[in-house]
Amino acid sequence: MSKVIDGKAFAESVRQDVAKQVAWLKDEHDITPGLAVVLVGEDPASQVYVRNKGIQTKAAGMNSYEHKLDTSVTEDELLALINTLNNDSSVHGILVQLPLPSHIEESAVIDAIDYRKDVDGFHLTNVGLLNTGGDGVVPCTPLGCIMMLKDRLGDLSGKNAVVVGRSNIVGKPMAALLLKESCTVTIAHSRTQDLPAVCREADILVAAVGRPEMVPGDWVKPGATVIDVGINRIERDGKTKLVGDVDYASCEAVASAITPVPGGVGPMTIACLLHNTLQQAARLHGVTLPE
Ligand code: GUN
Repeated sequence: MSKVIDGKAFAESVRQDVAKQVAWLKDEHDITPGLAVVLVGEDPASQVYVRNKGIQTKAAGMNSYEHKLDTSVTEDELLALINTLNNDSSVHGILVQLPLPSHIEESAVIDAIDYRKDVDGFHLTNVGLLNTGGDGVVPCTPLGCIMMLKDRLGDLSGKNAVVVGRSNIVGKPMAALLLKESCTVTIAHSRTQDLPAVCREADILVAAVGRPEMVPGDWVKPGATVIDVGINRIERDGKTKLVGDVDYASCEAVASAITPVPGGVGPMTIACLLHNTLQQAARLHGVTLPE
């Protein structure tokens, strides 16, 4: 088996499964899942993500609604839009693209979304459900990572997992998911003492810090599985290049499995967003999806 975990191929199979279930939901229950994506401002990376989300949502047979707002929109105006979407029965998923401009409080906006339509898993109720073993929505990027880990390693119980990074979007929910799988979990961050030694203990090493090529191969235990969440744009040899948070060549040499950048975690994130939207649509209508 190749060391490389092919996130692109895995994401394609997740999207195909979602599309099949969307077709079933339409045929059997006359329900077409709808995802509303809200983008505030002109951040180029966010515009690319939002466009890709729209394309893939439609390709899976779901409805896509895009709301593009000027950077100057007030928090109250944004909250009014969220309220409208909460009450719109054709909308089953609501995603507000982050980051938001600094005059808008992100947590107020996220928590205004009906948690049953939260497809990011960022609402406090879903965060609480994830951390108490409940059945809530799981954030897309960590969900994609855990799917790839389980696919590659099978049972994860008892493994030492180290997550480098403590963001609300990736680090913390990733750690919660690994704990749910009965791993022994360490969350490392910028204040961690002797980070290389902590990483060398990991059977599963997840890098989610947003620093290009920060983790070298000699921080990786031989035979470990490395999940690289970073997507960093750097200039090298006069060209723009995408690199992860791990130094791929040196880590690949010692790991037993590794996700590449691009083509690893990235494609899984949008596939999991489609998965979450489908799940929320079914849940809102009280429908149990076929296996
Ligand atoms: N910005 C970067 N990643 C994400 C994500 O997963 N969801 C949202 N809403 N915004 C993001």
